[in-house]
Amino acid sequence: MATFTSNMCGIVGYVGRSQAAPILLDGLRRLEYRGYDSAGVAIVDGDHVEMRKCAGRIASLAKLISQKPAAGSYGISHTRWATHGKVNDENAHPHFDATGKIALVHNGVIENYQALKEQLIQNGDTNFRSDTDTEVLAHLIGSIYGQLEGKDSKARLVNATRAALKQVIGTYGIAVVHSDIPNFMVGARRGSPLVLGVGKDENFLASDVSAIVAHTRDAVYLNDFDLVALERDKFEISSIDGAVGQHAVSKVEFSAEDIKKGDYPHYMLKEICEQADTVRDAMRGRLTYEECTAKLGGLNMTPPELRDVARVVLTGCGTALHAGRVGEYLIERLANIPVEVEFASEYRHRNTPMTERTLVFAISQSGETADTLGALRESRRKGYRTLGICNNVASTIARESDGGVYMHAGPEIGVAATKSFTSQLVILTLIGLLLGRMRQLSTAEGKRMIDALEALPGQIEEVLKLSDQIKSIAKKYVDVSGMLFFGRQFNYPIALEGALKMKEITYLFAEGHPSAELKHGIIALVRPDLPSIFIAPDDAVLSKNLNNIEQVKARKGPIIAVTSGNGAKQLKDLAADIIEVPDVIDCLSPVLTVIPLQLLAYHLAVELGRDVDKPRNLAKSVTVE
Ligand code: G6P
Repeated sequence: MATFTSNMCGIVGYVGRSQAAPILLDGLRRLEYRGYDSAGVAIVDGDHVEMRKCAGRIASLAKLISQKPAAGSYGISHTRWATHGKVNDENAHPHFDATGKIALVHNGVIENYQALKEQLIQNGDTNFRSDTDTEVLAHLIGSIYGQLEGKDSKARLVNATRAALKQVIGTYGIAVVHSDIPNFMVGARRGSPLVLGVGKDENFLASDVSAIVAHTRDAVYLNDFDLVALERDKFEISSIDGAVGQHAVSKVEFSAEDIKKGDYPHYMLKEICEQADTVRDAMRGRLTYEECTAKLGGLNMTPPELRDVARVVLTGCGTALHAGRVGEYLIERLANIPVEVEFASEYRHRNTPMTERTLVFAISQSGETADTLGALRESRRKGYRTLGICNNVASTIARESDGGVYMHAGPEIGVAATKSFTSQLVILTLIGLLLGRMRQLSTAEGKRMIDALEALPGQIEEVLKLSDQIKSIAKKYVDVSGMLFFGRQFNYPIALEGALKMKEITYLFAEGHPSAELKHGIIALVRPDLPSIFIAPDDAVLSKNLNNIEQVKARKGPIIAVTSGNGAKQLKDLAADIIEVPDVIDCLSPVLTVIPLQLLAYHLAVELGRDVDKPRNLAKSVTVE
């Protein structure tokens, strides 16, 4: 039995007058955050397809193309993140149909590929070269294309693609070319993102606008079941079932400059250092001094509807989920509404009892994470009002939710999320403030929150100045076997996030726990080569944290402390290293305490020679379940 080789990935297509190869390669580099196991291009040159593909990163593909150039002004390309099956040249995309004339790239999973393959084999098609579900789709389109009558080959390719997709169970964002049909491409999506870039005498397809923004800022965000036929100077969008639809061309918010590293050695460091600005942008125009509250028009909810909310559910994955965990403490503190935080992947499959007047937030930087999207759809199916907290404008989650709040953090390219996290924290604070001011939160308390929020960007600048100190701390710990992270209350989720950053980019074992849980098992791990990082600002639980720090110290565990205010004095004889951040009201301290942990993971990863922006096995936008 063939190995099931599904994929996540990024795709780019180009039809125009320039050479396709450099445009496709550049686009793939921008999408490398979506996966970097293998890459490939198929470019049509005259009447044949030039295919170049290999396991490894875009740099390997670029090398292959420089050794064996592929000429032509239209083509498709792919960068893969394997979920099942081997990473090898054969399984890299694009894939051909049986005639070798149709080439296809695919982002998604074809769940019934085995049944479709058997059907093709029964009909005499045995020419499969890879283990992939994608190749089956290419063969299916080719087989239907061969059976269709008619002189209009463009219509035949569109109809063959349409008919094949109707047989598919699963998800896809695809781009298809045929070597007999010059300057023509078909794209379609279901469950995987796909955007059409509209240029002058050239058009593009991509999984994400960042791949094409260097060429055009006019984009059409395709919806599920859309199919697009594109040529150099025109495009036509219809649905998979054939109906012609209306689509608006949007202006992309950011420019090609915004996705450059500038003078920074890594995107991650650039994004960490942008946080004073991104936090400012997350609250820009959303605070009102007159009423001492937040204005969030995108929620699309009237004051009576907001006042009626009796329960809040926050869902997401990874870093976004950790922001939700801080949000739980924040919203309960500010608005006194019960909040539950749910892993999106669990929430969507669980039989949660329906409770009335529940407001659900799906938190996602990319707005494309499959599990979060699944949770959003399930929640809406059950009748809950479901809102998005997203960074990517016009992403699927943003479009499918009943309303929401954009982060306005700009493109986040480093695979390890940083600036999107602090933006999410600010937005959750604004939501807490808004809901709170409609309930028990006084004007004075509202004003105190606004003052504290407005002081944050300046305080973040102060924290960023600690980068050199944190770098020298990182150098001291390059030989450790792992790290433990502890925090209480608002900073318990920061322990989780600090550990996640450390795991993601240094590959060191790391775990985050509530400080008090130490004595219930974790303390057995404490030893001299396993430092404990305590996030212990000068807040209501500092003295409790100090007790736990003593417990670790007594067992010879090295301690790094992130603290503020009087904390540094009290930690002087306990912690080997003290990182001091500015004082802030306790519910906002996570915005400041997380930054040293981002920097610690970053500097340690650099010391260890890790690939900071593209850590092994990870992808930024996980569009498979
Ligand atoms: C992946 C990334 C994480 C991210 C998570 C959720 O696992 O590696 O950094 O936090 O997805 O992504 P989202 O785009 O939904 O926030």
